[in-house]
Amino acid sequence: MAASGNGRNMSTDSNKVDEPLKVEEAETVNVPPPLTEKLLVLGGNGFVGSHVCREALDHGLSVASLSRSGRSSIRESWANNVIWHQGNLLLPESLKEALSGVTAVISCVGGFGSNSQMYKINGTANLNAIRAAAEQGVKRFVYISATDFGLANYLLRGYYEGKRAAETELLTKFPYSGVILRPGFIYGTRSVGSMKIPLGVIGSPLEMVLQYAKPLNQLPLVGPLFTSPVNVTAVAKVAVRAATDPVFPPGIIDVHGIQRYSQQHKSK
Ligand SMILES: NC(=O)c1ccc[n+]([C@@H]2O[C@H](COP(=O)([O-])OP(=O)(O)OC[C@H]3O[C@@H](n4cnc5c(N)ncnc54)[C@H](OP(=O)(O)O)[C@@H]3O)[C@@H](O)[C@H]2O)c1
Repeated sequence: MAASGNGRNMSTDSNKVDEPLKVEEAETVNVPPPLTEKLLVLGGNGFVGSHVCREALDHGLSVASLSRSGRSSIRESWANNVIWHQGNLLLPESLKEALSGVTAVISCVGGFGSNSQMYKINGTANLNAIRAAAEQGVKRFVYISATDFGLANYLLRGYYEGKRAAETELLTKFPYSGVILRPGFIYGTRSVGSMKIPLGVIGSPLEMVLQYAKPLNQLPLVGPLFTSPVNVTAVAKVAVRAATDPVFPPGIIDVHGIQRYSQQHKSK
């Protein structure tokens, strides 16, 4: 019986033993994810989080959300298909039940306030979530971070330092499957109670102009002010893809990457 010296080919047909391995190119194909995929969206009732939940449901995923207020004020019908958990990432115990059986997490938790509040919500809360997810064997973790603000980093240092601390933890705990999205301004329709605020009125024209003004973005200190805004549906598409596609590359994706990946997805 013929056996392969390198252990790659166990065929008993000796003519086949030395045939080189054909490696298929790792390419994303638009197949529905297996039903065993279970996504937990942290902050699924927020502006970005609610778009992420809808995008994931459209892909046939099983979707749960965790936030301090649970489902909160979302009245649209898609919200009936999400499992809503109430919990606080600053009290990591409250995350355990929601993480049970979860294969991927997308964190949309972040926000503004005093410097110490900003560090807690963008940093500490997400550090807790990343650690808990790694301990429970979650396969992939996507974090909605933010671009470098240049001059404004100093004024918003709690926000910026919190984001970067969470990013570092993510790349440490999920080196092969952690994805960080760094958008600038995100526009789309934000629901506040029963009101819908169309942030696209400002964001969309600005995106058209600034996506072709990439060199301005490289200017020292003020460059980040020219970062192109991005549509919330593009952020949600890329986040869901990064959370479910096993060949999606780990690491940091800037606003141009978000725009590119969301276009790729559209054309498939
Ligand atoms: N919007 C933008 O233009 C923009 C731009 C760049 C980056 N980002 C980033 O994108 C992410 C999402 O932003 P967003 O605009 O969607 O914010 P948002 O609407 O304020 O949503 C934040 C979410 O986090 C939840 N949350 C806050 N503290 C929590 C805690 N301790 N434990 C559990 N859940 C908590 C909130 O729900 P509860 O209040 O019910 O807990 C809410 O669902 C943030 O990280 C933000 O920094 C946003």
